[in-house]
Amino acid sequence: MANLCIIGTGYVGLVTGACFAKLENNVICVDCDEKKIALLNQGKLPFYEEGLEEVIFEAKANQKIVFSTDLKKAVESSDIVFICVGTPQRPDGSADTSFVLEVADKIGQFQNGPLSVVIKSTAPIEAIEQVKQTISVNSNHPFEIVSNPEFLAQGTAVRDFLKPDRVVIGSKTKEGAESIKNLYTGFDCPIIITDIASAILTKYASNSFLATKISFINEVANLCEKVGANINDVAKGMGLDRRIGPLFLKAGIGFGGSCFPKDSKAMVDMANGAGSDFKILNSVIEVNERQKKVIIDKLKKHLGDLANKKVAFLGVAFKPGTEDTREAPSVIIANKLIEEGCQISAYDPLVKDISLLNGCKVDLASVPYKAIENADAVVVITEYKDFCDLDFSHIKSIMKQPLIIDGRNILDSAQLSKLGFTYEGIGL
Ligand code: UDX
Repeated sequence: MANLCIIGTGYVGLVTGACFAKLENNVICVDCDEKKIALLNQGKLPFYEEGLEEVIFEAKANQKIVFSTDLKKAVESSDIVFICVGTPQRPDGSADTSFVLEVADKIGQFQNGPLSVVIKSTAPIEAIEQVKQTISVNSNHPFEIVSNPEFLAQGTAVRDFLKPDRVVIGSKTKEGAESIKNLYTGFDCPIIITDIASAILTKYASNSFLATKISFINEVANLCEKVGANINDVAKGMGLDRRIGPLFLKAGIGFGGSCFPKDSKAMVDMANGAGSDFKILNSVIEVNERQKKVIIDKLKKHLGDLANKKVAFLGVAFKPGTEDTREAPSVIIANKLIEEGCQISAYDPLVKDISLLNGCKVDLASVPYKAIENADAVVVITEYKDFCDLDFSHIKSIMKQPLIIDGRNILDSAQLSKLGFTYEGIGL
């Protein structure tokens, strides 16, 4: 069992630390944010992620995990350090690796023996050389740099970590790769050992390909509307081809979150920097931005001028099972509607704090019916199955007009039409 230091207690760092602790490693999770560490030491999580609290609780009880702000002590007592800090998007679309390099600088200062430094953060290829150089400035001890990208999806991150489709390890040396491979002993999945550039590209290309699937199906959905086809049937028919597969073919209002928008732009930037014009990915991003406008057009089609209309959102987060609203379609659509003079109310089972909405002026209700009261339209934003079980007869009785725009195609259109709603999905 290894002694691990995990730097960064965001989604990636905390899930990685907790799961490695569950696998009997000794883990120190470090963050410079004192409030976050204090919270974790009180047994509370800084965000919701299904199953994570239980894993941390168990690891703590087994004395396998501690939380600290003391990076020096953590690096000194570890054999392997995982860098799991953010690589936010710069205004030009490239990945900002300054947090990664700050951490590398400190690792160099604190290293007191041989170390493996693993980059889990999604950082471009050139960042690896920069990390190496930055550590070398202050350290005379040997160290290996390894890329071990994460493929965790929010809401299923613990399961994704413990039962992954694959583990990818990129290293210049066999020894560097082996030390990290050992951490995944007993995992029932292929472990791909490759060079660092290929490991990093595997991560960027995987996210960008999934984003491509979504933008592709959204384009098909828009075409369906024009030619009188049904996207659900089309996607089903396509997905049954094993070469295509059924996943990530759900048409809707586009992808959001902390990964797809950022990583697809960073991959375009990486390609540009290498003198390669990544045409498909540019279109994927453009289609995704345009797709959010579909909701505005549909509302205008039915309501005409949107000034002084009340629109109720079902869901706010970028996907179910998280309170994360980063790059969420909800925020972009709400801001556009507010510009048009709309009042927006919303209900989300997990988003309860208006500060999560980045200054976007939405009234958050504690129950869906409260958000829907007196609304001119309901818009389904997040694909929560529970929304299908709402009492739509009651909803009709409390709305100003019975209009539902289903941005995720989850509701039963036939039932709603029978109840007297005007229903519109995406590509139906
Ligand atoms: C994603 C990748 O799945 C994960 O492997 C990677 O490590 C991080 O990025 P995540 O951002 O948590 O994970 O969400 P994901 O479930 O992939 O969904 C992303 C977005 O795409 C959501 O906004 C979702 O609503 C949308 N989506 C997904 C669709 O619009 N249609 C689909 O068919 C699938």
